[in-house]
Amino acid sequence: MPPGPHTVPLFGNLHMFPRKNAYLKFTEWAREHGGIYSLMLFSRPIVIISNPRIARELFEKKSASVSDRPPTYMIDLVTDGKYFALARYSSDWRRARSVIQKSLTKEACAKHEPILQAEAIQLMYDFMTKPEQFFKHTFRFTYSVITSILAGIRSPRSTSPLLTAFTDMLQKWSVILEPGAQPPVDLLPILKYVPERWARWKGLCKEVRAGQIELYDSFVSMCERRMEQDMRNGSLLESIIGEGKLGTDRALMRGTIGAFIDGGTETTALFLRSLILMLVSSPEAQSKAHKELDSVVGSERLPVPADFAELPYVQAIVKEVLRIRPVLPTGVPYYTTKEETLDGYVIPNGSTIFVHQYGILHDSEDYEDPDIFNPDRFLRSEFGTKPGADNTGRGNETHFGGGRRVCVGMNLANNSMIITAMYLLWAFDFKEPIDPITLRPIPVDINNYSEGIATSPNPFKCDIRVRSPLQASIIRQEFHSARPVFQRYEYDLSPEDAAYVRNQ
Ligand code: HEM
Repeated sequence: MPPGPHTVPLFGNLHMFPRKNAYLKFTEWAREHGGIYSLMLFSRPIVIISNPRIARELFEKKSASVSDRPPTYMIDLVTDGKYFALARYSSDWRRARSVIQKSLTKEACAKHEPILQAEAIQLMYDFMTKPEQFFKHTFRFTYSVITSILAGIRSPRSTSPLLTAFTDMLQKWSVILEPGAQPPVDLLPILKYVPERWARWKGLCKEVRAGQIELYDSFVSMCERRMEQDMRNGSLLESIIGEGKLGTDRALMRGTIGAFIDGGTETTALFLRSLILMLVSSPEAQSKAHKELDSVVGSERLPVPADFAELPYVQAIVKEVLRIRPVLPTGVPYYTTKEETLDGYVIPNGSTIFVHQYGILHDSEDYEDPDIFNPDRFLRSEFGTKPGADNTGRGNETHFGGGRRVCVGMNLANNSMIITAMYLLWAFDFKEPIDPITLRPIPVDINNYSEGIATSPNPFKCDIRVRSPLQASIIRQEFHSARPVFQRYEYDLSPEDAAYVRNQ
């Protein structure tokens, strides 16, 4: 097996396994033990890969035996084992994957462009009119795009009922999803038999299960009602229901809806928050991007997707944000279904494998000052690496994972990151806010992130201003012109949401 930190009898490396911010400890161990190393949790082998060549070998040559996910008792309790993103490699997973994949191909995503752009215009409008709530706006934007595509219904406000129900449920769901936050039931199966009054996690699982059933079933029934009334708007659920693509299995339908919304909402919102944090911290990068946008697009029209190819500096900013702050720093774990060899080592059947994105993207052998935000590195070399770095197996999409479980939403995510990065940079100056007492700028801390499994900046203050009165009037005008696109997804709005859109 690959080398690794010293183990103790019976427990293996349990005593030293990080309960929070595992990606930092994984990076430290990679420096000590190399691009592939292993740990033991009781008798369960864990393999960590922090080298792009070995990751590529895994994805291209061993994908068939690493397409499973590790068993997760608590998640299965909530979702009957049908939560698509963490589901075992099974016929249910294959069925759901094929349905979702078809709705997110490049061609399918071209059909989603109008709603994506309209929501991104609202994102600018919201930033302009309520800049202090920019954290909430990023989440509303991603959620509304995803639910429009999936279920044909949007959320025009941060307080829209479907969005509030989702965020309430997500808070509790994240506590179950976070490794180490709950007792290790998968490692010590005896814990399953602890009575509920001593096992708070059992009550939590029940609560989340009830919340998911209520929310996801409501998407299905709204969609069924619209179909009966002949008011289709081309959502994915319409085709799932209409063509019976997932059969009559309600749990499979909920597990697919849940993973689609979870996968598509928080990820892209966290990218946007990291983008803003990095821009505030780096006025030079922002000013270079502004100059580039001024010369290619000008201030008299909005950028369009085709402009992106002409904006190498904006491209470099997007790549650098995803390098310095990959959204899922340790990726999503795989599970081996047969013994394999990798880079000359034996990987036993039943091993959990992490492709450790943060480790790959922060290796100081390959990246100059890896902890510094510096988009220029991507102008100097294709992957942002140092001259002479070994780029075997490296790509610019490490953050989407790989093999058969590669992110199914990557085309939509890319379109979304491209359009929002161009819009936000075209429209706004992001600056450190001024302290009203000292009249000095309040610096942002680019390392102030929360401790969960995703790379999530803690709330920070920032001064957001539209770059010119002309750009402000274009944003207003474009927001008004986007009304017909929005209307397609507004059949089932709550009375408050309906009143809000009427008054726009
Ligand atoms: C910046 C945005 C995004 C990032 C960084 C990201 C990253 C990832 C990663 C690392 C994985 C695991 C891949 C693997 O196991 O190899 C994943 C899986 C997944 N992603 Fe994304 N994602 C993003 C956006 C999206 C979007 C917009 C959707 C839309 C539906 C989505 C849906 C999913 C789903 C359903 C899976 C599970 C795939 C499976 O297990 O078969 N993601 N994503």
